[in-house]
Amino acid sequence: MKTPAMILFVALFALALLSFACTEAITTRETDVRSGPGSDGNQQGTLKAGDELAQNNKSNKGYNVQSSDNKLGGITKFEKVPADEERLIKNMEVILQEKMSKDYPAGLTKRDAHPKSLACLQAEFIVEPNISSELKKGIFALSRTYHAWIRISSASGKIESDKAKDLRGFAIKIIGVKGQRFQTHNNEKETQDFVLLSYPSMPLGTVKLFHDAVYYSIKFSPLVFLARLVVSGDFHIINELRKARQNQTSPLDIRYWSTTPYLCGTDLIVKYSLVPTSRIKSPLPPKLTDHYLTENMEKHLTANEASFDFMIQVQKDPSRMPVEDAGVEWSEKESPFIKVATLRIPAQVFRTREREDLAEDLSFSPAHSLIEHRPVGGINRARVEIYQYLSEFRHKQNNKPLIEPRYKADGGEMLNFRLSTSVCSGREMIGGMR
Ligand code: HEM
Repeated sequence: MKTPAMILFVALFALALLSFACTEAITTRETDVRSGPGSDGNQQGTLKAGDELAQNNKSNKGYNVQSSDNKLGGITKFEKVPADEERLIKNMEVILQEKMSKDYPAGLTKRDAHPKSLACLQAEFIVEPNISSELKKGIFALSRTYHAWIRISSASGKIESDKAKDLRGFAIKIIGVKGQRFQTHNNEKETQDFVLLSYPSMPLGTVKLFHDAVYYSIKFSPLVFLARLVVSGDFHIINELRKARQNQTSPLDIRYWSTTPYLCGTDLIVKYSLVPTSRIKSPLPPKLTDHYLTENMEKHLTANEASFDFMIQVQKDPSRMPVEDAGVEWSEKESPFIKVATLRIPAQVFRTREREDLAEDLSFSPAHSLIEHRPVGGINRARVEIYQYLSEFRHKQNNKPLIEPRYKADGGEMLNFRLSTSVCSGREMIGGMR
């Protein structure tokens, strides 16, 4: 008798055979992709360097172990770079850029990932007064209040109804942050971004896995990628990807995690989490609507503020809490999260044209950081390159300059955001406050 499970199994098995049969052809074409549309001389130079790395690493079990010599942007002593990482990152850039060109042949080009904005909110980031000395680094060194912008999004690469189960993104851009900057793909001058997701780990936790997901899903079909996971016995990844997607009550009611690690100072590796602490919670509507997540936030913020605790988790053991695999959730039992700041979102009107435009114009990246909070690990190394590359691409397609929100010179309070239309030299164009 044919049960649905059997049919699914047979279909996945057939797809797996197909995907493995294609592997040889795919590997050859991966190289071609890099010289396709969107690649340039610069990329080819990087690839050559990548190939040389691969050569160098034959004696090092495929890893390129580097030191922390270049404190402002190089690889830290905590990281191990696989030999072909640079090539995989470039492949992803080109495949995703091609996909964006196809997805948005005319009109506004949106983000490739997280294109649906659920809200763009004004907030305050209030650093705690009594932080332990080991965590009192960078932005956490002094107790003070910063203004911030938040973009809340749905993760799906397509704009979908809020009824669709999904992960939600929570990107914070703290402004007016002075100090020495991380210098890889960081074109902003005074921001500290924290980019989080509504799940404690990134199931596609290595560059290789993420690359394969992008490659097989876009070039063939998500089912082909799924079939490869089945055949390689990675059921737990399929299960995690399924569990991560949910129908939440409101993005203001749920918890978020950085999933990827960051430096704290020079000697500690940490992850972040945001824990909701608002007095008000939204109910799940009896019938979900296309915009119920935004509507619930609107009801919440019409008369009441929302708040979160911003927490840090310190790495205790590099093997159980790895830097190079974001798919591993770090045990909270072994290392509990510690509060270092409050994120306060005041009552506000946010469903405006101005905010919608701002959500499109802002660029978030783990690279927008002080050196003390620099991103580490493979997925972050990929993100710092890819986010800048694709953000520049979409801004160019939209004929928009890149912007960085800042305080006005007098450092006054942020009241309304007003985008300047002037473009500064290079990529620094400033959206002024007030
Ligand atoms: C190599 C792995 C990843 C790739 C290739 C990738 C790709 C992207 C891209 C292309 C964007 C849009 C960037 C822009 O146009 O401005 C984006 C946004 C985003 N990503 Fe990732 N991502 C990766 C991993 C992650 C991880 C581990 C997280 C976990 C926190 C994450 C969370 C987000 C969020 C929240 C946004 C929306 C940011 C915003 O509001 O602008 N991503 N991602």
